[in-house]
Amino acid sequence: MKRLISGIQPSGTMTLGNYLGAIRNFVKLQDTLEDTDILIFIADLHAITVPQDKLKLRQNIRSLAAIYLACGLDPKKVHLFIQSEVPAHNQLGYIMESTAYIGELERMTQYKDKKVKQVEGIRGSLLTYPALMAADILLYDTSIVPVGDDQKQHLELTRNLALRFNEKYGETFIIPEAYIPPKGARIMSLIDPTKKMSKSDPNPKSYISLLDDLNIISKKIKSAVTDMEACIRYDLNNKPGVSNLMTIYSCLTDLTYDEIEKKYIGKGYAEFKNDLANIVVAHIEPIQKRYNELLNSTLLDEILDEGRDYASKLAFKKLRKVYNKIGLGRK
Ligand code: TYM
Repeated sequence: MKRLISGIQPSGTMTLGNYLGAIRNFVKLQDTLEDTDILIFIADLHAITVPQDKLKLRQNIRSLAAIYLACGLDPKKVHLFIQSEVPAHNQLGYIMESTAYIGELERMTQYKDKKVKQVEGIRGSLLTYPALMAADILLYDTSIVPVGDDQKQHLELTRNLALRFNEKYGETFIIPEAYIPPKGARIMSLIDPTKKMSKSDPNPKSYISLLDDLNIISKKIKSAVTDMEACIRYDLNNKPGVSNLMTIYSCLTDLTYDEIEKKYIGKGYAEFKNDLANIVVAHIEPIQKRYNELLNSTLLDEILDEGRDYASKLAFKKLRKVYNKIGLGRK
């Protein structure tokens, strides 16, 4: 049986980017892939590579679990767990740090981007984080990892570390493949469409949170940056704002860019944005309703307990094999 794994950091609110680039595809894959064991987790250890408020972190972990389920992850098809509750992630993480070279960690774009934003000093884990991510994946003999475009480089590193380890110690890890969705893999900021939509952006107008008030969502879409041409046309280089909105439109309606262009011939941005705002709100409203029902339920804890136990068993077995290959401990 093949295995699929992916995770999201519980570092703040979940954006429409996280939804279209990641969560929505987890749900699609759970419903279409056959003979695949699916593990989805909350990457809480990754969140502490930058400072976090203790109470907010706790809330965000639970909130992300509820969001996953509210977006359609089915606990009958998916094992959902919290990364820090399966200590083998840290243990294999250390082995991966001992497989990776500092030079290749320093080359990671996300590290370079995030390190300049740190005011309290750069934590060591910000540099070593891709080694932990490699461990998250390799621990489970994973073959498919659905992620958005910004994680491609980390996946490439994971593959290199697995190959390097296998070469030194003999076949141990499966070499995983990234699954990047054909559309929605890089949703851009609503106020600066040359930048990725990000939950850590200081300006909340730049992103749509899945938990935003519905009126605010509508307003944010209506005030998204476009251009002066007043023509709904997909052109990433010359019309990044409109193209980004068209991508969101296309992801949520399954209309192609051509079909959207035809629909809006001779119409202005106001009408297009108004329709898009309604589409996004209609999509998010039922998610918020399910989210509110799930957040404080005992069902959520039962699902996370099952996921932790399932993942722990697999992870412990793999870790023992890895330790043996390296020669750690006693036989
Ligand atoms: P994170 O938490 O930054 O993002 C979670 C997922 O959302 C995708 N994403 C986007 N997709 C489209 N447009 C955007 N604007 C956008 N912003 C974020 C990301 O590509 C990602 O798929 N290191 C990971 C978490 C992680 C992980 C793993 C993932 C830890 N271990 C093992 C897969 C497998 C991260 O920080 O994602």
